[in-house]
Amino acid sequence: MFQKALWISSSTVGGPPTSAPAPYFRKTFQLDQPVKSAVLSVTALGLYECEINGNRVGDEVFAPGWTDYRRRVQYQTFDVTDLLRHGENVIGTILGDGWYCGFVGWIDRQVFGERPHFLAQLDITFKDDSTFSVPTDSSWKTSSGPILEGDLLMGETHDARLELGDWSTPGYDDIHWHPVLLSKLDPIPELSPRIGPPVRRIEEINPVGVNTLDIFSKQYRVHDLGQNFAGRARIKVRAPRGTLVRLLFAEILNPDGRIYTDNLRGARATDYYICKGGGEEVWEPRFTFHGFRYVEVSGLGTQDSCEVTGIVLHSDIRPTGTFSCSNALLNQLQRNIVWGQKSNFLEVPTDCPQRNERLGWTGDAQVFVRTACFNSDVNAFFHKWMRDMSDTQTTAGGIPSVIPNAKFVEGAGGEDGGPAWADAVIICPWTIYLCYGDKSILDENYEAMRKFMDFIGEHRCKGRIRSHPDADSWGGYGDWLALDGGGSLEGLTPRDLIGTAFYAYDAGIMAKVAEQLGHDSEAATYRALREEIKIAFCRRFVTPDGLMISSTQTAYVLALHFDLLPENLRPAAASELVRLIQKRDWHIGTGFVGTPYLLEVLESTGHLDVAYKLLEQETFPSWLFPVRNGATTIWERWDGWTPDKGFQDKGMNSYNHYAYGAVGAWMYRTVAGLELDPKEPGYRHIIFRPRPGGSITRAEATLDTPFGRTEIRWDLQAGELRLELVVPESCHASLELPGGYHSNRIHFDAGRHRLVLDQTARSN
Ligand code: BGC
Repeated sequence: MFQKALWISSSTVGGPPTSAPAPYFRKTFQLDQPVKSAVLSVTALGLYECEINGNRVGDEVFAPGWTDYRRRVQYQTFDVTDLLRHGENVIGTILGDGWYCGFVGWIDRQVFGERPHFLAQLDITFKDDSTFSVPTDSSWKTSSGPILEGDLLMGETHDARLELGDWSTPGYDDIHWHPVLLSKLDPIPELSPRIGPPVRRIEEINPVGVNTLDIFSKQYRVHDLGQNFAGRARIKVRAPRGTLVRLLFAEILNPDGRIYTDNLRGARATDYYICKGGGEEVWEPRFTFHGFRYVEVSGLGTQDSCEVTGIVLHSDIRPTGTFSCSNALLNQLQRNIVWGQKSNFLEVPTDCPQRNERLGWTGDAQVFVRTACFNSDVNAFFHKWMRDMSDTQTTAGGIPSVIPNAKFVEGAGGEDGGPAWADAVIICPWTIYLCYGDKSILDENYEAMRKFMDFIGEHRCKGRIRSHPDADSWGGYGDWLALDGGGSLEGLTPRDLIGTAFYAYDAGIMAKVAEQLGHDSEAATYRALREEIKIAFCRRFVTPDGLMISSTQTAYVLALHFDLLPENLRPAAASELVRLIQKRDWHIGTGFVGTPYLLEVLESTGHLDVAYKLLEQETFPSWLFPVRNGATTIWERWDGWTPDKGFQDKGMNSYNHYAYGAVGAWMYRTVAGLELDPKEPGYRHIIFRPRPGGSITRAEATLDTPFGRTEIRWDLQAGELRLELVVPESCHASLELPGGYHSNRIHFDAGRHRLVLDQTARSN
């Protein structure tokens, strides 16, 4: 498909801190015979938007997507038969910097390369079956145009006075365009078909209000879109020629009503549009996005008009699940979790969409993956990201902190993301397998997983203690952003405790993976390894009475959740965890690492009441505290904003991080009661196990499983539990009732089932 194509580029090039205008490319060709079919294969290092005869090809945004460009770039193919015509035809493209040569994270530009490159081949079959190709080569022409700068983090600048008119239609005069350069790429990345869903323009949002502020005789119009999200703004503007309209984006407002942008750090998050004048102009950028709820428009005169529409962008992951219950604040929490997911599932699972970061942080993804699988179909999305992960794995087997790895090649986090981060290589494929029943993800990643286990054993442990202080290696990010660290970001839970707990967890998962893939002797080896790690863990971190040497909630959560304690010590450890929670007046004390399992551990050790107390807690710190304070997404930090301290440190304070949204899985699995069976993954065997508690009198969850839609809803009134269960075709289900209820029907086949149960062990 690319047999004849050569990589091309323009001579325009920026520098590490300086952007260059987006190059346009065009090629004319003649068709004198009727066309039977035409396929365009296309990719870029950078971003491309293709046009044929004035029509946009496809509807993908930020194609060809983000991969580790040192190794691989994805391509797309489009059926463009209908776009061609008899006589002269034009194919053209505009290139953006994207992740390839724009700013990435907090690093300068040009992380992967210095300028964008383009590769395409149009393959035409005529009605008589003869063929003709139009590949990229030295005969293409290039020019700069109105896009003076297009950067994912910084924003886009468009001078409408420089627009090129019908540049991609026949008859256009390209006499002033220049010859292209043939690119000299080293290394040449492997071309692979796209395997994940493309980013698309998913939805449009209209402002819920506009506030006009006059400051030093300048007017600032702050448009509130009512929702924090990732995307951009389309404007409809009427202003004189040469007016410079500035759009500045923010998640939150200062107390004086101006937008708060300090937490964006080095991301300028500003678009500029220079009007051509003479009537209404509509513009939406092509090569940038921002994380925002508010758009501040300035530069307009009092007579000028500017309408703003929010364009929601994310990888096109199909919504699959819903959760709701009788507590309205929890329903808002669920909406915030979903928006956190939408905002951060953009090509790779990112930490946040707004500041100069937006990276594929392994820890965050690992923490959230189970919840993600409820809300949307993320199967293909994770297949793709796991491929990125094996592309990025170091030769020694290490998994870096962020995938794709953007220049952290050496040093802390660059070759090993550390406990709970790098472990994404084990946890993510296993979770995807459980949720979708798709063994291929285990198969595809088994080598990478195995290599990682060897790397930990050989390079990151002393004895079986991972991140041992004497192991002479970086210990990881700790229990990131836990509030027990007295100001440190890593929390108080010792890194070797976290490291060893996750190592044991990994070994257990690996045993099951090996078993699934038929590697029985390796399964046995991993089982034995897990036992050894468990012994080392207990020896180092557990007292004979079942107390942990570290009295953090996370230390107990990990020991209990990963089943690292002798059976007889579990009750004592669980009571101690409850005591620690009570000591904080029934508030959460965990960071990124402990939070996802906290409620599960409480429930499984007989403390469902405490789990509900935490879930429904409204005062700081809690999941509902941000909801009470108007959040529309999940905050990065429990204390992102508090009434007494205001905004947290601007250096690390996103209002759209999904990690703490990991509680979503518990709401589906335990509040509503929709669980899978690891022995029949993908919900082939559904386990309905509602666990009413707290103030909740009603809950429901629905999920489009790979086999069809399942539903559970329950209602509890005066001790009477009404249940409605839906089991899809080719699935079966079991009902595990909460304490005090009994039913003589516990197995269900496909269909809709209704039950009414009371506590006197009667059922009908
Ligand atoms: C990111 C996190 C990430 C962390 C590592 C932060 O800068 O935003 O979400 O996991 O670094 O500790």
